[in-house]
Amino acid sequence: MSKTVICPGSFDPVTCGHLDIIKRASGMFDKVVVAVLVNSSKTPTFTTEERIDLLQQATAGLRNVEIVSFEGLLAGYCKNSGIDTIVKGLRAVSDFEYEFQMAIANKKLNPELETIFLTADADSTFLSSSMVREIGSMGGDIRNFVPACVHERIAAKLRNR
Ligand code: PNS
Repeated sequence: MSKTVICPGSFDPVTCGHLDIIKRASGMFDKVVVAVLVNSSKTPTFTTEERIDLLQQATAGLRNVEIVSFEGLLAGYCKNSGIDTIVKGLRAVSDFEYEFQMAIANKKLNPELETIFLTADADSTFLSSSMVREIGSMGGDIRNFVPACVHERIAAKLRNR
């Protein structure tokens, strides 16, 4: 039976850490749905369209990866899409409490949902989208933090904010 998993996130913007988790999931499962959260109560730096576009470019070489967006509860989106497995990256112990809470809440909302954690690559343990936004908006070099093929687009947007 073919196995589809979901990698949800804000991806504001995609980082090398995100891409590492997506690539590894794509090697482990038949299909990976990367789901970009549309959070109407927050204004992200990159629009939903930009975040999707950047992810599409960054994952262009991965044939079993699809980029979608979702609004509302992840558990509901998974139920409606027939997906029963969430894959998330864990960078450090500090991530654990929040991720653990989310995994339990998602399972309460949809008992069929399992959450699998992949340990972040050693080079990505310190990395976050918010750090990329801060460094990039102050003119710092984010080349090592975001996928090479989207570096210029991300850097330009952050410089011009
Ligand atoms: O990249 P992030 O911001 O850590 O991703 C968090 C995300 C999008 C996975 C999480 O906020 C989420 O699933 N939001 C959707 C709303 C929801 O289902 N909330 C309850 C989860 S306990």
